[in-house]
Amino acid sequence: MVVVNGYELSEREQHLNVVNLPSLEKLAKEILPKDGFDFIRGGSEDEWTLRENTIAFNHTQILPHVLSNIGNPETKTSIFGLPLDTPIVMAPAAAQGVAHARGEVATAEGMAATGSLMTQSTYSSKLIAEAAEAGHGAPQFFQLYLSQDDGLNKFLLDKAAVAGIKAIVITTDLTAAGYRESDVVNDFHFPVPMANLEDFRVGSGQSNVGVGHGKDVFDNEAHQIGVADIKRVIDYTDLPVIIKGIQTPEDALLAINAGAQGIWVSNHGGRQLNGGPASIDVLQSIATAVNHQVPIIFDSGVRRGSHVFKALASGTDLVALARPIIYGLALGGAQGVTDVVNHLNHEFKITMQLAGTKTIADVQQTSLVK
Ligand code: FNR
Ligand code: LAC
Repeated sequence: MVVVNGYELSEREQHLNVVNLPSLEKLAKEILPKDGFDFIRGGSEDEWTLRENTIAFNHTQILPHVLSNIGNPETKTSIFGLPLDTPIVMAPAAAQGVAHARGEVATAEGMAATGSLMTQSTYSSKLIAEAAEAGHGAPQFFQLYLSQDDGLNKFLLDKAAVAGIKAIVITTDLTAAGYRESDVVNDFHFPVPMANLEDFRVGSGQSNVGVGHGKDVFDNEAHQIGVADIKRVIDYTDLPVIIKGIQTPEDALLAINAGAQGIWVSNHGGRQLNGGPASIDVLQSIATAVNHQVPIIFDSGVRRGSHVFKALASGTDLVALARPIIYGLALGGAQGVTDVVNHLNHEFKITMQLAGTKTIADVQQTSLVK
């Protein structure tokens, strides 16, 4: 057991017998320090939106198709020409050193073994290059939190390009950190530094960059984001840019008109604006507005194979998760990450089979009922 700043880091590396994703939360709670677990699990205010994210998948149903003569459903798909074995991908999640001593390095190994895609966070506990290398050539995206310091933005975009990252994801829904009550009560401070910010701070000699101990990280962020900020990144990088945090058709079209090459529908897993709708409830209207101009990634509350199916049938191309994968990391390291994603893909394949769908395209063409 490694202890950093009084915080015990998990070093587990083991196969997980995953029965379902919701049960991972309880198992992770038993092994993680309380403040770290609460940071991962928590949402904002009274967590209404956090709860709704999963409950709202029940607002639609999947019709069984029992005479379609379909067997061996196939989950292969792609984005930006990158082949993926499954549409289930990893959302960006800050500070995975909170969950495991090997942090994003183990996550990258685990995700690569699933034939899927990982998105690295700006607030990673490991350097972009370290996690990229651990992915052994598996595709990875990099999520950018826009800083008020454009030097930091460019520094991160350059590092991402050099590391072979395939797309940039700009997260737009965190111009202020959501009011996460448990973090306030616990007086939560990140036990491990944010490697990329530390790298910039040391390299640039700037001492005012958040180094990963609590609120100073968030204070470094852009406090307002508009279309011009997105355009600046699009002009700077050669990589496709995806805009994350979209919850309305209007914002999706603003982003696309600014040159975004992907839309990431998300309410940050209920960690930001509490009182907003479940992310699944806004997906279809956004997909209708986007009208296949660019690919869509969806997240928030996905825990079951049937949820993956419903999200794809509601217009997304990929389905992302954060918390269950982080719990897998805490419980089993790289192998745990792999086991979680493989389990969800297994549930998803059963759903595909019973709904009479053979391919991801078939799922996307399915009409859900209410
Ligand atoms: C996040 N999320 C997130 N998003 C982002 O764009 N950058 C980040 O650094 C983080 N950090 C982060 C940390 C932790 C611990 C969690 C749980 C989440 C949000 C994440 O990408 C995603 O939108 C939601 O977590 C998806 O909801 P589920 O799958 O966790 O329900
Ligand atoms: C979070 C930030 C870091 O949700 O995205 O904790």
